[in-house]
Amino acid sequence: MPTIRAYRPADREALYDVCVRTGHNGGDATDLYRDPRILPDIFTGPYLALRPDLAFVLADEQDRAVGYILGAADTAAFVAEFRRDWLPTVAARYPEGSGTGRDAERIRDLHHPEWMWHEELAEYPAHLHIDLLPEAQGKGAGRALMGTYLAALRALGVPRVHLGMSAANTGAKAFYDRLGFHELHRTPDGRGLFLGRGTD
Ligand SMILES: CC(C)(COP(=O)(O)OP(=O)(O)OC[C@H]1O[C@@H](n2cnc3c(N)ncnc32)[C@H](O)[C@@H]1OP(=O)(O)O)[C@@H](O)C(=O)NCCC(=O)NCCS
Repeated sequence: MPTIRAYRPADREALYDVCVRTGHNGGDATDLYRDPRILPDIFTGPYLALRPDLAFVLADEQDRAVGYILGAADTAAFVAEFRRDWLPTVAARYPEGSGTGRDAERIRDLHHPEWMWHEELAEYPAHLHIDLLPEAQGKGAGRALMGTYLAALRALGVPRVHLGMSAANTGAKAFYDRLGFHELHRTPDGRGLFLGRGTD
């Protein structure tokens, strides 16, 4: 049975791999980017570096990380730290303004982390990312990880949480609906959705 435990620095590469292998609407993004590490360098690495206390790992019988939930209790503060402390550590690998298509979009996201925060989200200060490898999906681990993460936020006194997702990821949307999330905000192009719920 997989177990949930706190993140350890030795998990880092495995978690980067989980992010890439689930990074295209829930499916494998390995071949979609010139350098697929751009995804975990936006969506995984900064949390492990800046908020390791809010990173939880799903570990298999060999203690290999096959999934995670992570995030930040105060998104506005996280965005500022992302820009100040995280971006300088990876910026040279993805020069600002470089790339085309998807690569260019993600490189823009990396260099402008302010996209993570909208006024509509003010009542939902925390946020999260959750990803499981295919073999770990559909067995209740996502629900269990969410329970662990919500309890950690409650312990910090955080009342509500949000997440951003691709509207095309219908499986994840069904999961979040089932777990009581509701829509807060939609990007003007309709491709991005922000959902939220209380931590109770
Ligand atoms: C989305 C994800 C985190 C869900 O975790 P999971 O372990 O597969 O989900 P669970 O087995 O815990 O399911 C919890 C509930 O959601 C429902 N659910 C989960 N995935 C679903 C799907 N694809 N379609 C319909 N319902 C779904 C389950 O039926 C279950 O309902 P119940 O507990 O009331 O019976 C996981 O599948 C995943 O990592 N997918 C790939 C990466 C991804 O898309 N991440 C989210 C990016 S925004």
